[in-house]
Amino acid sequence: MKNQVKIVLVGMPGSGKSTLGKEIANKLGFKIYDLDDLIVKREGESIPKIFMDKGEGYFRRLESNVLSDALDRDEAFVLSTGGGAPCYNENMEIINQKGISVFLDVSLEQILERLTKGEVAKRPLFQGLETGEITLKLQDMLSERIDYYEKAKIKLSGDDISAELLISELLTFFR
Ligand code: S3P
Repeated sequence: MKNQVKIVLVGMPGSGKSTLGKEIANKLGFKIYDLDDLIVKREGESIPKIFMDKGEGYFRRLESNVLSDALDRDEAFVLSTGGGAPCYNENMEIINQKGISVFLDVSLEQILERLTKGEVAKRPLFQGLETGEITLKLQDMLSERIDYYEKAKIKLSGDDISAELLISELLTFFR
């Protein structure tokens, strides 16, 4: 595979970007970065705290800046992004210019199952919501975001997305 390949995972919160990111990076021997972790490192505050103290607008500007700096790194890596990252500013265009974007197209049922299994606390957009409200919120978010996600160069659909499947898609991509 080519040098300095940047694989960028996009998709809804709870679609498994971080888990798949670690697996694929491990298999390819690439570094793994998580955009939210890079944001926390840059700001010295947790994501919920950034939302609470400074608001979503501030978070989105920070997210775009950290994303564009990450994509300028002179190395091969896998980057898992926050669910909203491709949908603000020119982020999806920049991702596609500099990397290979991969959309994890997981069903809302599976996302809901993951989010309600204790994954809500670290996600400010879902805090304080009941399961039914989370479902409605997810449906709304997906309909607003799907056009951005669909711009990804590779789309993996279904509920059993694996590192092996992504590797075979990447090989087809480079063929
Ligand atoms: C967000 C998703 C989160 C995080 C932030 C906003 C979103 O990341 O970036 O809370 O707008 O969907 P995950 O996709 O890892 O939950």
